[in-house]
Order: sequence, then C-alpha cells, then structure tokens
Amino acid sequence: MALFQLGTPDIAVDIGTNNTRIYVKNRGIVVNEPSVVIVRGESKEIIAVGDSAEELIGRSPGNIRIVHPLRDGVIVDYEMAQIMIHYFVSKAIGTRHFMRPRVVVTMPSKVSKVEHSAVINALEKIGSRQIFVVEQAFAAALGTGLSVYEPQGNFVVDIGGGTTEVALVSMGGIVLSHSIRVAGKKIDEAISGYLKKQHGILVTDRVAEQLKFDLADVCAPEGDLEHLAVVRGRDIATGMPLTVDVNMVKVTEAIQDTLKEILGAIKWVLGRIPPELAADILQNGIFLTGGSAALPNLDTMIAAEFGVPVSVARDAGECTTLGAGYMADHFDMLGNMNRKES
Ligand SMILES: Nc1ncnc2c1ncn2[C@@H]1O[C@H](COP(=O)(O)OP(=O)(O)OP(=O)(O)O)[C@@H](O)[C@H]1O
Ligand SMILES: [Mg+2]
Repeated sequence: MALFQLGTPDIAVDIGTNNTRIYVKNRGIVVNEPSVVIVRGESKEIIAVGDSAEELIGRSPGNIRIVHPLRDGVIVDYEMAQIMIHYFVSKAIGTRHFMRPRVVVTMPSKVSKVEHSAVINALEKIGSRQIFVVEQAFAAALGTGLSVYEPQGNFVVDIGGGTTEVALVSMGGIVLSHSIRVAGKKIDEAISGYLKKQHGILVTDRVAEQLKFDLADVCAPEGDLEHLAVVRGRDIATGMPLTVDVNMVKVTEAIQDTLKEILGAIKWVLGRIPPELAADILQNGIFLTGGSAALPNLDTMIAAEFGVPVSVARDAGECTTLGAGYMADHFDMLGNMNRKES
C-alpha cells in the first residue's frame, strides 16, 4: 500500500433530499444533518450548513437565502451541493489534505446521466480516491439486515423525503426496481395544498411537515374530531396572519392521493416478481425503510392493500446509510462494477 493511502478512511455518503448522512468505516454514522445551506443574499457567502443552518431558518434577516441543494432525490444546485458535501465530509473525517477517502455513495435507481455525474463530480472535487455507487434500495435492504446475498427474495420500500425506491433484491443485486419522485415532501405539499384550498391559509414547508408529524395517520378513525392542531400562516387573500384549527381526519384525507402513488410503485414491482421468488415475499413480507416509514399505519395500509406482511425496519431512517456503510467496511471486497477511480 502506498504511504499516502495509510490512514485513508473508507466512508459511505448518503446525500438525501432532507438529510445527509455519513458513515465512517468501523465508526458508524458520524454525520446526520439536514441537507440545507444558508447563503447571504446574492453574494454566495456561506453562513451555515446542516444543523446550524436549520437552526437559523425563520430567525434570520431577509437578505439570506435558504438553499436545499437536492430536490426529488437528486442534486439541483450543483455549487451548493458541492459546498455542503465538502462540509459534511470534512466534519466526518477531518481536513488533512492527504486523507483521500474511498467513498460508497447511494443513488436513486432512476437518475439521468447528468444527475449521476453531479454526484460523482462533487465527490471527485472533494478528493475522493475511489467512488463506488450503490442503489439506495439495495443499501436499504442491506442496512435492514436482510439476507441480500442469499438466493432469496427480499422486498424493500425506502420512502425518504424526495423519492420512494421499491426493489426486489436477491443474490447481491437488484432483480427488479422502481423509483418515483414522490415521498415525504410530496406528502407535506399535499397538506399545504389542502390548507390553501380549504382554509385559504398559506403555510411554510416546516409548518406543513410539523402538521404531518402531529396529525397525519394513514388510517385515521372516521369521524375522529378530537385530534386537532392549530395551524399558523398567512391569509391567502389579505396576507395577514391567520390561525386555523385542523383535524386529523382532514389531514389524512389530504394525503390519500400521494399515498396512492406510493402504493402504485409497490404494485408495479409486486406484479412483476418472478414466480420462484414470490413465495419468499409472501412469507417474509415487505420491509419499509426511510424517514417516511414512520408515518403511522403506513405498514397496515400496505399490508391490507396487497395481503402480504409489512414491517417497518429498525432504525428505518438510517438503513440506507447503514447498508452503504457495511459496504464501506468491506470496500476491498466490492466488485469493479460501479467503481470509479480518480
Ligand atoms: N414520524 C414521522 N412521520 C412521518 N414522516 C416522517 C417522520 N419522521 C420523518 N419523516 C419524514 O421523512 C422524510 C425524511 O426521510 P429521509 O431522511 O429518509 O429522507 P432523505 O434520505 O433525506 O430523502 P431521499 O432519500 O428521498 O432523497 C421527511 O419527509 C420527513 O418529514
Ligand atoms: Mg434517503
């Protein structure tokens, strides 16, 4: 081994629409922060990244810009993504210039060449020595602890903030997969859309997301008027501050169409399972990962729809990173496919 490689860390980088997580070999997840950057006006001066940026949202003066470098699972602001990734990787492994990491990076299964290159280029720019790309659903299945290297069917649905990744995994690879750009953020948008239409109130993304945490339930009991939340926003007509009471049943109704799109993606893969793997899925069921797997009763709804057992994975929000991290722990054993030297 060349001297400069000594001490070079192997890491896994999971750049999500909502959260970026970094795993360092043999240490575990050392960074788990929101994918957000705060910039001063048009000057592009970076004020804060990640957790410290999140803390400033809503508390800072008007001349700052809140940038979310990813949308729907992919980089949309290359420059800011680069700054954000550099910041998180430095935080994880330090900034000594000879520490050129080998990186396992997760990606949605359906990305364009440009979207793919944006991630690779950003990692090359921070000095990555080798980059190995893994599809998010495969990493999620591995991180869930499923027997992904056995000749057995494993079914995983990773519902994050920007994408839902559905995959059938067996013998170390993806047999079938489907990816849609519908997940937690679209659920939040459905809630703000409902508030706008029915109550004439404009709310921030954060308020919509908080209402989801407080009230959304995939199967709220009909006629339940007890669970209420007070929502604060602006009157769409006058621009004046406005407060409305919203109940759980209405929030549940508002998110149904979005949930149907997620069910549709699962159905697409379920309907194409080769017969020899179908028995495994009927027996072992579907595993849900990703932050949105925590939506109350989502597992019950999917189980009822398809008649298969559904479990929410332990540490669902971190499975993708843990799976990619497992691969980083075994970097030398990864094949040459998906591997890029620089
Ligand atoms: N208790 C909860 N109930 C419902 N949704 C939740 C809960 N906790 C987190 N979420 C949602 O999970 C999403 C974030 O999940 P995650 O961190 O897996 O996404 P991500 O990896 O950043 O996105 P992606 O992989 O899609 O690019 C957000 O939309 C958040 O609102
Ligand atoms: Mg994710």
